[in-house]
Amino acid sequence: MLQIGSLVVRNRVWLAPMAGISDRPFRRLAWRLGAGHVVAEMTAANKALWDSPRSLERRQAGAAGGLHAIQIAGSDPVDMAQAARLAVDAGADLIDINMGCPAKKVCNRMAGSALLQDEELVGRILSAVVEAVDVPVTLKTRAGWSPERRNAPTVARIAEDAGVAALVIHGRTRACRFKGAVEYRTIRRVVDAVSIPVIANGDIADAGTARRVLDETGAAGVMIGRAALGAPWLPGQVAAELADRDASAPDFETRRASILDLVDGTHSFYGERRGVRIIRKQASAFLEAHGASRHEIRAFHSLESAAAQLGAIGAFEDIHESNLKEAV
Ligand SMILES: Cc1cc2nc3c(=O)[nH]c(=O)nc-3n(C[C@H](O)[C@H](O)[C@H](O)COP(=O)(O)O)c2cc1C
Repeated sequence: MLQIGSLVVRNRVWLAPMAGISDRPFRRLAWRLGAGHVVAEMTAANKALWDSPRSLERRQAGAAGGLHAIQIAGSDPVDMAQAARLAVDAGADLIDINMGCPAKKVCNRMAGSALLQDEELVGRILSAVVEAVDVPVTLKTRAGWSPERRNAPTVARIAEDAGVAALVIHGRTRACRFKGAVEYRTIRRVVDAVSIPVIANGDIADAGTARRVLDETGAAGVMIGRAALGAPWLPGQVAAELADRDASAPDFETRRASILDLVDGTHSFYGERRGVRIIRKQASAFLEAHGASRHEIRAFHSLESAAAQLGAIGAFEDIHESNLKEAV
């Protein structure tokens, strides 16, 4: 268990917010399969974008499970405070502020990780949001703006002073985007700089890595992003293994059942036409991880109906398991 302000999170392995991936069907399933905490995809605080159908869909409540955590991004303290208030009015239990996104679309509007260049503005945004709502506010950010300017410890202190309840640090700078090794040392410096919980993020794909990162950084928990693509059970599995080294991983049939659940849930949430397109990324990550050939993945991408997608996954044999069967 982990305390975030007045709220309790059930374990220390969280699913990362990922635009286009961690939608409600995915969050709901990851939560059901044991993730400690799940966060909705980022929505722009900008008034013109806040009520767009896409933003509404991203924030949709109806409890994905656990706390309803809404992530907002923006660079105007007034807009951010207003967005946080609206999110809470719509049922959010927790507001997460994104200052970690390196995307051009976000950075050009001086949101996401671009804000890390302006610490004074960071302080004003965080204070405005914390003052606007009576639910805990968390901050997700990076190790800093650039390798020459790893200012996450300073930003973390600003956040703590503003009343932020917990931090998630992706251990890369904005300039590094997704390249290079994650700097767990910078995360350690953040942990040493503040007394609120810090969650370590970046390149964590199994319990062994999670354990090592927790040891090296002293973080209160870990957040898993890309490794959970097509593997909604992963955060829950890592949480179980951290709690009990002998916890077993789900077998292929169980994993397949989870993916079928996700595919079906995605079709229902978006409707068949959109759902079939949206789920391709996750389904092919699952297929690839279980040995599907390029040809099989291309064939999956050409399927246009819900029934065909479910049928293809239902008929798919894990290449590793069939090799094993042949060897026996
Ligand atoms: C496709 C994609 C979309 C993402 N969208 C968001 C987002 O909406 N909000 C956010 O804070 N981070 C976002 N991220 C960053 C992740 O939350 C996470 O910090 C990053 O992927 C590093 O963790 P990992 O190595 O476990 O993937 C996104 C990452 C990816 C790959």
